[in-house]
Amino acid sequence: MIIAVTNQKGGVGKTTTCINVSAALAFMGYKVLLVDMDPQAHSTISIVNNPHEYKKSLFDVLMDKNQRIEEIIVKSNIPGLDVAISKISMAKLEPALIGEFDGHYRLRDAINPVKNKYDFIFIDTPPTLGLITLNALVAATHILIPIQSSYLCLEGTDDLLETIDKVKRIANPDLEILGVVITLHDKRTNLSKDVVDRIIEVFGDKVFKTYISKSVKLEESPAYKESIFTFAPDSIGAIQYKQIAEELVERAKN
Ligand SMILES: Nc1ncnc2c1ncn2[C@@H]1O[C@H](COP(=O)(O)OP(=O)(O)OP(=O)(O)O)[C@@H](O)[C@H]1O
Ligand SMILES: [Mg+2]
Repeated sequence: MIIAVTNQKGGVGKTTTCINVSAALAFMGYKVLLVDMDPQAHSTISIVNNPHEYKKSLFDVLMDKNQRIEEIIVKSNIPGLDVAISKISMAKLEPALIGEFDGHYRLRDAINPVKNKYDFIFIDTPPTLGLITLNALVAATHILIPIQSSYLCLEGTDDLLETIDKVKRIANPDLEILGVVITLHDKRTNLSKDVVDRIIEVFGDKVFKTYISKSVKLEESPAYKESIFTFAPDSIGAIQYKQIAEELVERAKN
């Protein structure tokens, strides 16, 4: 199962969700790969030791068919979780691929040789609907959409859904929305409740039953290069992300 974690809105919890759901599944015993497609490289920096020591990244693999993805897959700090690393050089990918007839298919082709080694592959994407995100949607079997429960959170959702439809029509007919994860939720406010109601109106039972609360521990853990499960195992964030992972496994069976 290859899951693109996508929302072109910035700062909605894509990377936090990628890291902690991947980590939860790895702790459950699954083999997991996190593919970092974001030039910001936040996933890579957050769970890989000394990422700057690696010369190559996904950029090199996506630019040159002779480079093997295995060379840029490294172990994270979390047992059972590997990372296909990103670097700032990924920012050169989109301009370099414009006009290439197979520009949208590079990630799919790159992942192909390793996809059977993993139970779950997550793809972290940047906050745009450009060619990098298109590569992720073409490579994926499923999409997970984190949505921050705040005012204007559904702004732009139409563009995302339209892009998903286009990808399904042209390149990846079996692509499915696995679900929507409500993030950065503050259940004390009336606004949050209204917002959640609106998200459920739009996405129905695609919305995961567990919502991720706003929590300082989740914000702090990347600075210590840890997932929430070792950084603050009893925190609300750890409990909620584990529940999301369990729900995801259930959905994966259907
Ligand atoms: N549940 C949460 N509680 C508190 N802080 C959070 C939570 N989830 C994410 N954050 C923090 O909010 C910021 C944005 O989160 P994150 O980087 O996961 O979003 P993103 O969608 O990947 O952003 P971008 O679009 O820039 O890639 C980060 O500083 C992160 O630590
Ligand atoms: Mg991110």
